[in-house]
Amino acid sequence: GWGAYDLLLFQNFWIAPFYLKATITFLKHFQAKQNDIIVVSLPKSGTTWLKALAFATAKRNRFIPISQNDDHPLLHSNPHSLVPFLEMIDFYGNDPNNISFPHLSTLSEPRVFGTHMPFPLLPHSIHNSNCKIIYICRNPFDAFISLWHFKNNILSSQPLLPALTLEEAFEKYIEGTFDYGPFWSHMLGYWKASKDTPNKVLFLKYDELKANTNFEVKRMAQFLDCPFTEEEESGGVIDSIIELCSFGKMKGLEVNKSGKSVLKVDVGNKHFFRKGETGDWVNYFSPCMTEKLSKIIEENLGSSLYFEKVWL
Ligand code: PPS
Repeated sequence: GWGAYDLLLFQNFWIAPFYLKATITFLKHFQAKQNDIIVVSLPKSGTTWLKALAFATAKRNRFIPISQNDDHPLLHSNPHSLVPFLEMIDFYGNDPNNISFPHLSTLSEPRVFGTHMPFPLLPHSIHNSNCKIIYICRNPFDAFISLWHFKNNILSSQPLLPALTLEEAFEKYIEGTFDYGPFWSHMLGYWKASKDTPNKVLFLKYDELKANTNFEVKRMAQFLDCPFTEEEESGGVIDSIIELCSFGKMKGLEVNKSGKSVLKVDVGNKHFFRKGETGDWVNYFSPCMTEKLSKIIEENLGSSLYFEKVWL
């Protein structure tokens, strides 16, 4: 088996070997539809949350009224089941000749997908269709701590594989050898794309989404060409969506307490809901680590992303 920290360099980005086959299939063969919505992130940046918000927002007219709809899929399924990661599924079972992604073409529209792929690697059809990309970025301090916990949880189900100490994992992180890293290249790729093609790529930040959820969700709906009407807003639709997707609500659902992840990694759904806060990193970082990571951020992201204001 592969350890949770074993990665291989694929087109200048680090990925887990057990995702390689599905990744290549996705990159080669995925056909985007014009109205697809693609949620993109580095791991532990708020993917699960944004998947839920995008799904609930884009499909809100099918589950009315949201606040009283006991059948809403988000009450019964983990967001990763409803919004599949394109590079983590064995789309075509064991038949390499059947690359039609059968179950994907039957998904109800608009289809909502997730991916951790860096911008330059996205398949041709995503770049060239009118489909929308929503990127969520989290401050590297919290994202690192979250990922370290997550990997240790995966490893605890595979007792023969060693977990890394915080310091060991940190060294890999700041070298860039972490899942889909270097993190700065991943972030910069989408940041630039959001500047160059603002109708194609929306750049959200976990910490801002947390601080001002209502505002950011409205911005997302507008970007997706399904803005909330005044009637919806005064009728509490936005509030219901935010509540449905909130950390407390999702963490408490049976499916997220005891269900198992649909992802390839052997991990319970509960591990996608740890603390859900901004700033937990201060409980883990030594002054030396803080200085090192700040320097990496300054060197690689600089002020172009106006990151430091939000993050430090
Ligand atoms: S993954 O594996 O990439 O999909 O993980 P991802 O969802 O990106 O990151 C998990 C972290 O997001 C927190 N989380 C949430 N925050 C706010 N609201 C909601 N609904 C929510 N759901 C998950 C989760 O707790 C992880 O962060 P940490 O800091 O570890 O708590």
